[in-house]
Amino acid sequence: MEGFDFFTKRFFLLMITAFCLSSSFVLSLQLGETCSSSSRCDAGLSCQSCPTNRNTGSTCSRIRPLNPTSKVNGLPFNKYSWLTTHNSYSITSAKSTIGSFIISPRNQEDSITNQLKNGVRGIMLDVYDFRNDIWLCHSAGGTCFNFTAFQPAVNALKEINDFLESNLSEIVTIILEDYVTSSRGLTKVFKASGLSKFLFPVSRMPKDGKDWPTVDDMVKQNQRLVVFTSKKGKEASEGFAYQWDYMVENQYGNDGMNDGSCTNRNESPPLDTKSRSLVLQNYFITNPNATQACADNSSPLIKMMTTCHEAAGKRWPNFIAVDFYQRSDGGGAAEAVDAANGRLTCGCDSLSLCKTNATFGTCDAPPPKAAPKPAPGGESTRNPSDLPAGSAVHTGTGLSSLVMISVATLLLWW
Ligand SMILES: *[C@@H]1O[C@H](CO)[C@@H](O)[C@H](O)[C@H]1NC(C)=O
Ligand SMILES: *[C@@H]1O[C@H](CO)[C@@H](O)[C@H](O)[C@H]1NC(C)=O
Ligand SMILES: *[C@@H]1O[C@H](CO)[C@@H](O)[C@H](O)[C@H]1NC(C)=O
Ligand SMILES: *[C@@H]1O[C@H](CO)[C@@H](O)[C@H](O)[C@H]1NC(C)=O
Repeated sequence: MEGFDFFTKRFFLLMITAFCLSSSFVLSLQLGETCSSSSRCDAGLSCQSCPTNRNTGSTCSRIRPLNPTSKVNGLPFNKYSWLTTHNSYSITSAKSTIGSFIISPRNQEDSITNQLKNGVRGIMLDVYDFRNDIWLCHSAGGTCFNFTAFQPAVNALKEINDFLESNLSEIVTIILEDYVTSSRGLTKVFKASGLSKFLFPVSRMPKDGKDWPTVDDMVKQNQRLVVFTSKKGKEASEGFAYQWDYMVENQYGNDGMNDGSCTNRNESPPLDTKSRSLVLQNYFITNPNATQACADNSSPLIKMMTTCHEAAGKRWPNFIAVDFYQRSDGGGAAEAVDAANGRLTCGCDSLSLCKTNATFGTCDAPPPKAAPKPAPGGESTRNPSDLPAGSAVHTGTGLSSLVMISVATLLLWW
């Protein structure tokens, strides 16, 4: 029976190896755990490092904010903060739909559909007249060229329409850098995409700094698309809200990243203008750089948020606009949005510390700071206290794999 035993042992060994392998795929890694690829991380996390901050070990990092309305629902629209992508359409993989080479820099890495899936609720688009249509274009001097043209705007708007049609309680804001001069050009393209039916009417937008209607009301009325244009005349001619009549906004690009001062961009009233109910914080460098973004989107972003809060008359941003929104050194733009929503909706330092439906200012205690993990060769030396509030470093997966590997080793000797 020697031969039988031999094969039985080998059979068991194989089974256990297979089990170890498959479970290491099934059991996903949590925030802060060392990883080899994003598919190994939990939903809402991506596997990344930040060499710019000398963090070369890849760990599972957040890319999705918490749902802003998850702890306190039913507040006015201007009492929430929404993750916003700068030049949402200018993505790494984008190819010109007319086969031209696009020289414009790229600001994001995934499709608008995917951004929406990841909790992005503010979409920034540059729109131009081009080829007898409205196009998304990243150009200069207000003219779109073959080599700066991405695609017809209707494509991106249809992605947003699909999202709103299948997610009936979600609200999306589109902020247009608007170079369209063709008659009713915007109206036509919004109509063609199907989005017109969701438009929140300008007549319901507060002009005097009062609160917006509640998110519940916007959902109930199915007015779940807020659109702003940079062209003043469009409000009278087509009913598209002129952005800076409703919103203040800080300087964008390198000039907006001087920590210690937060001032309005030229087109916006001063940040402390209380007759504008909405506050937008830009935080991205002039020449987009994916390698630099992980550092910018981390603690400097949160620090600037505090500076802008003071400058905006103690108002937290309703929109936080970044490049490469998924890039961070841990919690990133998602963490910043959670922090803004914590302060706005429940008076806590992060939405993760808010208690559902509790009185404003009633917060959970921040989780105790875990002892720093020892860092064997190649692993991240990130201090767990840098991780977003409410998170913990989990080692459960590593432990169970270790047990299974030990059992397999024992069997080998058996
Ligand atoms: C732009 O691209 C289109 C389509 O490929 C082509 O027909 C047209 O000649 C190009 N225009 C210029 C100025 O190169
Ligand atoms: C949006 O709808 C899709 C399809 O029903 C669903 O899978 C997804 O979880 C929804 N997302 C949100 C944020 O509600
Ligand atoms: C992008 O950022 C990295 C890290 O800061 C820097 O080393 C690199 O020179 C930048 N690239 C460009 C083209 O500026
Ligand atoms: C919070 O309040 C909302 C609205 O009143 C209610 O629907 C929900 O069930 C409450 N949630 C909890 C956990 O009390």
